[in-house]
Amino acid sequence: MNDNTIIEMSGINKQFPLVKAIDDGKFDLRAGEIHSLIGENGAGKSTMMKILYGVYAPDSGDIRVGDSHYKTMDTKKAIELGIGMVHQEFMLAEGLTVLENIILGSEPKKGSRIDFAKAREKVETYSRDYGLEIDLNKKVIDIPVGEAQRVEIIKTLYRGAKILILDEPTAVLTPQETVNLFKILNALKEDGKSVVFISHKLNEVMEISDRITVMRHGKYIDTANKEDVSIPQLAQMMVGRKVFLGAEKRSHEITDTVLSVKDIYVPSEREHSKIRGISLNIHKGEILGIAGIDGNGQKELAEAVSGLRKVERGAVVLNGKEIQNMNPQKIRMAGLSYIPEDRNVRGMNKSFSIKENLVADCFYKKPYSSRGVLNRKKIDNYAADVIKKYDIRPADTDICIANLSGGNAQKVICAREIDGDFDVLIAAQPTRGVDIGSIEVIRKILTETRDKGKAVLLISADLDEILALSDRIAVIYEGRITGVLKADEATDIKLGLLMTGEEIYEKE
Ligand SMILES: Nc1ncnc2c1ncn2[C@@H]1O[C@H](COP(=O)(O)OP(=O)(O)O)[C@@H](O)[C@H]1O
Ligand SMILES: [Mg+2]
Repeated sequence: MNDNTIIEMSGINKQFPLVKAIDDGKFDLRAGEIHSLIGENGAGKSTMMKILYGVYAPDSGDIRVGDSHYKTMDTKKAIELGIGMVHQEFMLAEGLTVLENIILGSEPKKGSRIDFAKAREKVETYSRDYGLEIDLNKKVIDIPVGEAQRVEIIKTLYRGAKILILDEPTAVLTPQETVNLFKILNALKEDGKSVVFISHKLNEVMEISDRITVMRHGKYIDTANKEDVSIPQLAQMMVGRKVFLGAEKRSHEITDTVLSVKDIYVPSEREHSKIRGISLNIHKGEILGIAGIDGNGQKELAEAVSGLRKVERGAVVLNGKEIQNMNPQKIRMAGLSYIPEDRNVRGMNKSFSIKENLVADCFYKKPYSSRGVLNRKKIDNYAADVIKKYDIRPADTDICIANLSGGNAQKVICAREIDGDFDVLIAAQPTRGVDIGSIEVIRKILTETRDKGKAVLLISADLDEILALSDRIAVIYEGRITGVLKADEATDIKLGLLMTGEEIYEKE
């Protein structure tokens, strides 16, 4: 062990009713380092850190903090030992002010009263020292998530944290906010504090970490110095095999327009015009990525084009034919395929098997039926082929789709949507909540679709995904397109500016 090691967890085991979340886990932390803990969804990252913070008791194992050994921690003890954790779900009281939230439970008293002036002074020193900008007087409900996160961080510092655990802190941030967070983390490190940074975004991990620990299926895989590893190596350690998440970009001539969206206005449940005048052209053989923070009209755009939502003004033209406000089935027949964002609601029938879901749109047609009689053999063979081709697990055509993991269910839907006759594929958040192995398969499906000369409209809140796959990128903000960039001109900073609407305000 390094002399600077302040925490050492070893031989940690934790069984939940259905899964062994941690299987002989280990982790160590040094003073003044930023240590990333990475792994796929479900790898056990949060559980491991919740054991350190005392949220869960491990079944066995040793936790050493300084010179003391513990079988289990409890949160109170952890805080006394200088450990603080910012959970994935923030735990602030929305109705209280920022200052009230920070001091909640450890209020400084003057007699029997809370000494707000003293509290404020102390909190302001943290803001200053580490660049944590917050407005103490605002109610938490009125501040943006990036600020709520800073409040959570100050809250741990206020309780004396020297060790900060941040569970997927950048999941909710824009690129600019992430840059800001990284400045804060570096300032904390300069001050000798230690940070555990949980993430599965490898480019961020490579930017911020001193060391990186990889977990897979609850097991410890390895710990490396940042200098000694590359992103492909880390991805391989996370998944257990080689993975390729990018795409061969092609600098092709953009020719035939297949889909045109012309100045459309679309309402949402809450707003009369959620989409306010969007125009886009999508061409054969290209992936047009729609980048943007969730909730800026992406869902409404996909639904308007696919006929699930009313278009109030403007036109949608597919293969030269106006399709706005036609029924979804007709639009499908006109050449549109759609991988929906809320796949549990629209994408699949949860009481059907893999095979039934695969042929849900075409079982009544040849080759799966003739003269009203199902050809079961054809359907079985087709389903077996798909399962093999896309590595769908478990490999059983008759298993109910509800029993599949999110990634495997999504592969079934993607396979169905790209099979058959269509010219435009809309893929809305196709890899959200999906494991890396499945992400790789789904991205391959999208690029193969493009390479066959089809047009793909890729809507994703994941900028890395947009950058990895798109030939052109349009940014959506508050129901408008703030810019369209060629893939080779786009950087995450440029996109980030467009995503927060800065660019349009500068022009206006
Ligand atoms: N409170 C819990 N009860 C039961 N199972 C849980 C609980 N928390 C996590 N798990 C399971 O333990 C495994 C590891 O989860 P988690 O530590 O949250 O993974 P990660 O943070 O790496 O995504 C997952 O299979 C998850 O479903
Ligand atoms: Mg987690």
